[in-house]
Amino acid sequence: MDRLEFLKRLGVLTVGASLMGSGVSAMAAEAEEIPEIAADKKIKTKMPEMDAGLAKPVTVMIIGAGGRGLTYSRYAEKFPQSMKVVGVADLNPYRRNRMAKKHNIPAENQFGHFNEALSKAKLADAVVIATPDNLHYEPCMKALELGYDVLLEKPVAPTEKECRAILKQAHKYNRIVAVCHVLRYAPYYVALKQVLDSGAIGELVSIQHFEPVRYYHFAHSYVRGNWPNSKTTTPVILAKSCHDLDILRWLIDKPCESIAAEGSLYLFRKDKMPKGATERCIDNIGGGDCPHEKECPYSAKHIYMEKKAFLGPFDLPRKDPVLIREKLKTLNYGRCVYRCDNDQCDHYVAIMKFKDDVTASFSMDAFTPYGGRRTRIMGTKGFIEGDMTTFTFYDFRTGHKSVWDQKVSEIEEYKGSGHGGGDHLLVRDFLRAVSAHDEKLLSSTIDVSIESHVMGFMAEKSRKSNKKIKI
Ligand SMILES: NC(=O)c1ccc[n+]([C@@H]2O[C@H](COP(=O)([O-])OP(=O)(O)OC[C@H]3O[C@@H](n4cnc5c(N)ncnc54)[C@H](O)[C@@H]3O)[C@@H](O)[C@H]2O)c1
Repeated sequence: MDRLEFLKRLGVLTVGASLMGSGVSAMAAEAEEIPEIAADKKIKTKMPEMDAGLAKPVTVMIIGAGGRGLTYSRYAEKFPQSMKVVGVADLNPYRRNRMAKKHNIPAENQFGHFNEALSKAKLADAVVIATPDNLHYEPCMKALELGYDVLLEKPVAPTEKECRAILKQAHKYNRIVAVCHVLRYAPYYVALKQVLDSGAIGELVSIQHFEPVRYYHFAHSYVRGNWPNSKTTTPVILAKSCHDLDILRWLIDKPCESIAAEGSLYLFRKDKMPKGATERCIDNIGGGDCPHEKECPYSAKHIYMEKKAFLGPFDLPRKDPVLIREKLKTLNYGRCVYRCDNDQCDHYVAIMKFKDDVTASFSMDAFTPYGGRRTRIMGTKGFIEGDMTTFTFYDFRTGHKSVWDQKVSEIEEYKGSGHGGGDHLLVRDFLRAVSAHDEKLLSSTIDVSIESHVMGFMAEKSRKSNKKIKI
């Protein structure tokens, strides 16, 4: 649709309803909806329903019942008519039992290692693979061979070779693999995409995209926690930012042709350690608390006992300070951030050229007080600026501005779904796709996800070789 036609439609309702009636998939209809952009008013988009609305529940086995496995399983608690958890595999007995109890999983469908679960005959329609990054490839290949459809956590796998092998396997067995690029499903990004596709900003020329990680989130995940080491997990550009590369590729809707990256570990290194810092922030054996505990922003006491942030991996029955303190004596989360076995870049920048001379810059930074994403989109006739909760569209010719700020977190159905509603909307679409045997109901199929992963691998190649890489 050209701009004139788009402007003519200002103030009219979306076309989604008529598309749905004509048999076009719900996902496709949502993507093609025309948002209502009234001058100097709110941008209105239709909020997707969270319920997959299936006649018969899709049965699912959760492989990896940690943070992400738990998040996806909660969909079944909310919408039991659409999803049923019938199996679980996790090495950690606390997490395995928690899942088994919640979903009444029979003993014969409770497993430790994923190999045990996947050596049995197929016991569900689909599996959720939410094991650590370096343990996606093996269970995914096996699950596809057994005939499961797969909801696969990102990053797909730590190497390009393994990513491509999974793609091939999915085609070979004709199975659905949905990659958990959850941002694509968040109403904020869906609305942003609709505005871009409407032609309101003219031609898209460039994007500035910023991923502020937040200082204590970075310390938790990429210094002390699950992804401190780029070699044993994946480099941070994939572990954290494959979402962002995917969103850039999706919004721009053109292939990326080249990428150049810079980045390093600036702070969390032994040579930056304040003098006299101790092994742990508090309760050192024979040594009490670290002398810097009271002023260090990365203090474990500050993050876990005072802020009570990121306590999921502690496996606690309740957020009790006594229990948290006890865990900090042994878990990595109690260690000094200058003494961990980490190498992930704490600041990372990349510049990209896409087809037709469209450019994008990306920046990931640990040193921010807030998380989320900040994006500026420059078009030939307009501009968009957003912060993952609201975005503003500016029209150059009229000088009008319009705002999208639907309060996603206040919608009852959306509660408990992270990433601005994206976590559970992804599950909704995955269940619909499995139920209808139609991967077109998904936005993040394995085919499109591999492309943005390759951008990440090439960014690392560029950063390490000091060269711009052609893709
Ligand atoms: N889509 C997103 O936004 C998002 C966000 C965070 C994490 N992730 C990804 O999700 C995956 C899981 O992350 P998480 O935060 O849930 O981690 P987690 O550590 O909380 O959960 C992983 C679980 O896998 C289990 N496990 C490990 N080895 C196993 C094996 N051999 N067999 C069975 N279970 C095994 C662990 O015991 C653990 O409970 C990672 O790949 C991560 O990068 C994605």
